[in-house]
Formats: sequence, C-alpha cells, structure tokens
Amino acid sequence: MNPNKELWEKGDFTRIAETMRRSGEVLVADLGITEGMKVLDLGCGDGTTAVPAARLGADVLGVDIAANLVLAGNRRAEAEGLANCRFQEGDASDLRDLTDDSFDLVVTIFGAMFAPKPHDVAKEMVRVTRPGGRIVMGNWIPGDPTLVAQILKISGAYSPPPPEGFVSPMTWGVEHDVLDRFGKAGVAPERISFERRTYTFEHPAAPAEFLSTFRVSYGPTMNAYAAAEASGRGDALHKELEDLFVSENASEDPESTSIPAMYLQVMVAV
Ligand SMILES: C[S@@+](CC[C@H](N)C(=O)[O-])C[C@H]1O[C@@H](n2cnc3c(N)ncnc32)[C@H](O)[C@@H]1O
Repeated sequence: MNPNKELWEKGDFTRIAETMRRSGEVLVADLGITEGMKVLDLGCGDGTTAVPAARLGADVLGVDIAANLVLAGNRRAEAEGLANCRFQEGDASDLRDLTDDSFDLVVTIFGAMFAPKPHDVAKEMVRVTRPGGRIVMGNWIPGDPTLVAQILKISGAYSPPPPEGFVSPMTWGVEHDVLDRFGKAGVAPERISFERRTYTFEHPAAPAEFLSTFRVSYGPTMNAYAAAEASGRGDALHKELEDLFVSENASEDPESTSIPAMYLQVMVAV
C-alpha cells in the first residue's frame, strides 16, 4: 500500500473539512472564476473548494489520492445537482491521466503540499495548466504559531523520525522552496507571488471536542496519538494539543470553536 494514500484514507477527513467550508467559499470567491472555466482541484478532499468553484459555473475536476474522499466528493456534487463537478483518484506527483495544457486554473488548498516528490508535483501542475493559465496553492507555514503548523509540529515531536529522504510537506510554506520547485518546472520567479492569508476552522462545540474530531478523523493526528501511546506519552501529547486548541480559540463562546490559521497563498502565472 502507498503510505501517502494510506495516511489520508485513514480516519475520515470529511469531519475536518466540514469545519473549513466557509473559508473554502471565501477563497474560491476571490479566484476570478467564470462560467465554463476549466478548473483542477488537486488534493481536493471532499470538495471544500471544488464544490463552490462548480457553483460559480466552472467545469471542475477534483483529483485526490484517497478513494474515500473521492467518493464523498462525488456524493456532495451529486447531492447539489452539480453535473459540472466530478472527482477521481490520482496522485499529484504523477497526473498521468491528465493531458498537457488542459486547465485554466489549478487550485490546491492544503492538498498537493502533502504529496511526495515536490519537484514532480510542481512539474505536473505546470504541465496540465494551459499557457496563460494560473496555479493557486494554499500551504501551511512551518514554524507559524497558529493551529495547523503547531499541530504538525507537536505531532512530529511524538512520532518516529521520518524515513531517509523524506521531504516535509511544510517546505511548501517556504517561499525559497516554492520558487526553486516552480523554477525547475520552467516558471520564472517574477511569475510567482505570495500572500499570507487566514483560514478559519469553525465547529459548533468546545475546542476540546474539536480536538477529539482530529484525534479520530485526521490521519496525521491519529498516527501521532498511536506513536505517543506506544511510547507511554499519549497523555502528554493530548495535553499539549488541548492547550493549543483552547488557546487558539477566538470564539467568545467557550462551547463553540472558531480558530484562525495562517497559510501561504502561492499564485503562479503559467
Ligand atoms: C488537508 S487535506 C485538504 C483537502 C482539501 N483540499 C480541503 O481543503 O479540504 C489534504 C488532501 O490532500 C490529499 N492528498 C495527499 N497526498 C496526495 C497526493 N499525492 N495526490 C493527491 N492528493 C493527495 C489527501 O487525500 C487530502 O484529501
């Protein structure tokens, strides 16, 4: 089994995605999507950005490595009657089913960053985007003090060291690495721009309950708990994460969660 696929098919990412819908819609509203535009949503999950793009009239293909999320995405599109939105399995490092120059816009929000072989990922995104088209990435930022970067950092401290040659997904949040990867894919630096933006996780229960959702639904957190428990450090991990979720909660109601998280938006003009 491909460990990348296994990680994301573990648990049920749709439970986390449900807390990200509003930010997904806000992001998509800002992408200049027009009727009939051909959009690829890479690492699309169950369609947090693919579905609103299709609602705006784009012709959307969502590609994701996780079969359960592809199924969930197709069900969401069908439930909304969006015949212009479909989801299929694929690997962002090797989009062999997709032809060159076939999309006006490739969007990947916390998606392609998790694929292995980042240089291949950049090449594939550039290859399938038509000249004059755009790529928009949303990437978590290493060392950022907000939620997701801290979850991944804390989790890493309780997990075994990654295998030799592993490139951290968080390097997609480093401008220098992004320029290098797209540069090797043939994109000049002046065609790449960056902006720091915020995504907000919204959940109708207390932050500790929101953490429980991560614990049972989010592959990377599930693995961290398993590793911490195996080394007798499960309670310590839980305490660190609970403190993080509580301190990051911006909701005035302690029984509801609203946590803003900073990310790097990368815009590439192909
Ligand atoms: C944090 S989730 C984000 C999902 C979605 N973009 C959203 O905003 O809700 C990461 C997604 O990337 C997908 N993914 C991870 N590695 C991938 C790969 N190699 N190719 C395609 N998708 C991948 C996962 O299955 C998962 O759906």
